[in-house]
Amino acid sequence: MTWRRLVLVVAALGGAVAVILWDQLARVSETAVFDNPEEHYKYGGLSLEPGFPYYVWAVMPEVFADLLPRPGGWEVFGFVDEGRGYPVGFAKQTVGYPGLTPNCALCHTGAYRPAEGAAPVPVPAAPASALDFGAFRRFLFEAAADDRFSSAVLLDAIERRFELGVVESLVYRTVLIPMLRRSLLEQRAAAAWTESRPDPGRGRFDAFNLLKIEVLGMEDDGSVATSDYPPLWNHAARRGLRLHWNGGSDDLEQEDLMSVYSLNRGVAGFAAASFERVRDYIATRPAPAYPFSVDSTLAAAGAEVFAAACGACHAEGGERFGQVTAQAEVGTDPEFLSMWSEAFVERLRSIDEGPFRFPDLRVTDGYVNVPLDGLWLRAPYLHNGSVPTLAHLLSPAAERPTRFARGRLEYDSVRVGFAWQPEGDPAPEGVSWTLYDVSLPGNGNQGHEYGVTLPGDQKRALMEFLKTR
Ligand code: HEC
Ligand code: HEC
Repeated sequence: MTWRRLVLVVAALGGAVAVILWDQLARVSETAVFDNPEEHYKYGGLSLEPGFPYYVWAVMPEVFADLLPRPGGWEVFGFVDEGRGYPVGFAKQTVGYPGLTPNCALCHTGAYRPAEGAAPVPVPAAPASALDFGAFRRFLFEAAADDRFSSAVLLDAIERRFELGVVESLVYRTVLIPMLRRSLLEQRAAAAWTESRPDPGRGRFDAFNLLKIEVLGMEDDGSVATSDYPPLWNHAARRGLRLHWNGGSDDLEQEDLMSVYSLNRGVAGFAAASFERVRDYIATRPAPAYPFSVDSTLAAAGAEVFAAACGACHAEGGERFGQVTAQAEVGTDPEFLSMWSEAFVERLRSIDEGPFRFPDLRVTDGYVNVPLDGLWLRAPYLHNGSVPTLAHLLSPAAERPTRFARGRLEYDSVRVGFAWQPEGDPAPEGVSWTLYDVSLPGNGNQGHEYGVTLPGDQKRALMEFLKTR
C-alpha cells in the first residue's frame, strides 16, 4: 500500500488538515516488537507500512457472515489462534491507525491435537497444515465486492464495539474504508489467476505464482505450483543445502529476504532489525519431538533400515542430502517445476533494491532430498502434500489414498500423519477439513516409491525410527 507516500505528499502541501491526516494515517506510534523471540516470531511486525485496519477486521466476520465458508469467526480459515483478538501470523501495530500486517508465522506456524477433542497445541515454525489461505483471500475479495463494504455499514458495526474519536471516525468514513475497498478490489483483480487453478485447500498455497503474477506483475503462464508449507525450524542447519521444494536456491539469506519481499509486496517499509530477530529464531528453533509413545528398541532397529534405504538422500551427511534428485528419478508430480521458468528466475535475479538481491536463483529439474527433522509435523508428505501419512508413503503409489481430508488436527499415530479420513461433516464446529483429490493438476501422488518393497517387520521398524526424526 502506498498510503504513506500519499499522505507525505498531502503533508507537503502544509496546513492543519495535513497534520491531522499524517497523525491518523501514517504516524508510526507503535511497532510490534516482543522481547521473547517466540512471541516476536508469532506477532512481530516486518513492515512499517500501514496494515489492514484492525477495527474493520474485527467486524468483518459478523458483517459478512453469509460469505464465510461455514458459520463462525476468523477461525474458520484455520488460523492458529491464541485468543488475542487476532491470530498468530499477524502483527498488530499502529501506523497512523491500528492495523494488522502478516508475518512469516502465518504460513509457518502449525498445531495438532494431542488427543481427540483436546485443544490444538500451537507449534511455531511448523507448517500451517490447517490454514486455508485461498479461502481467506476469497472471503476478503468477495466482501470488498459486496455493497455492504461501505463506510456506513462498517462504521455502524465498528462503533457498536469500539469507541472512535470524532476525527478518527471521520477518517475511517472518508479515507480509510474507501481506500481499503479500492485496494482489496485491485488485489482481487490481480488474483484472478487463482480462479483457473484447483483450489489449494488447507495447508497449501501457490506462493510463487502469487509472487510472479501479483507482486512482480509478470504474465500468467498457467503453471500450477501449489505446494505444502514447509517448516522453518533448524534453519542454521540448512546453510549450503538447497532450498525450496525444487532446490531453486542454496542461499538461506536470499531466500528469507525473497519471502519478505513477497509478503511486504516490495521493499517499502521493510523493518530490517525486526526481521533479523525472526531469522535468529528460525535459525536455532529446534524441531519439536514426537509427543506420542515410541518403542525405542524398534526405532533402533529402524535406524539401520533407514541408513540403508534412505540415508544417502535423507541422513545428515548422506552424499545426496539436501541436493536435488531429478524428477525423472524420484517420479513425483512434475507440475511445480514448470512454474520456475527462466523468465521468472531472470526477473528475480534482476532485482537490486537495498538488501533485496537474489543472484543465486536457478531453474532445476527435480526436487530436494529434504531434511526430515520434525517429520511427524511435516505431514501430509511430498512437495504437494499428496500423501497423508508415512504408512501411505511407504506403500506403492497405486495403493495410496486418492481422496483424503486435509486440515484435521487430530493425529494418526498408527500411520503417522494427521487424521486423513474424510469422515464427519466438515461444517460442524471443531471438525473442519478440505478434500484433497489427487486427480487434479499438480496434485498427483505418484513417485517416491522408496522402501515400499521392504518386508513388513523392517517397514514397522523404519516407521518407528522416523517418529524420532
Ligand atoms: C502465504 C504463505 C507464506 C508466508 C506468509 C510465508 N511463506 Fe515461506 N513458504 C511458503 C510456501 C508455500 C513455501 C514452499 C514453496 C517453496 O519454497 O518451494 C515456502 C517456503 C519457504 C522457504 C523455503 C524453505 C525450504 O525448506 O526450502 C523459506 C526459507 C521461507 N518460506 C521463509 C519464509 C519467511 C522468512 C517468511 C516471512 C518473511 C515466509 N516464508 C512467509 C508460504 C509462505
Ligand atoms: C534418491 C533419493 C531419495 C531416497 C533414496 C529417498 N528419498 Fe525421500 N525424498 C526424496 C525427494 C527428492 C523428496 C521430495 C520429493 C517431492 O517432494 O516431490 C523426498 C521426500 C520425502 C519425504 C517427504 C518430506 C516432506 O516434508 O514432505 C519423506 C517422508 C521421505 N522422503 C522419506 C523417505 C524414506 C523413509 C526413504 C527410504 C525408505 C526415502 N525417503 C528415500 C528423495 C529420496
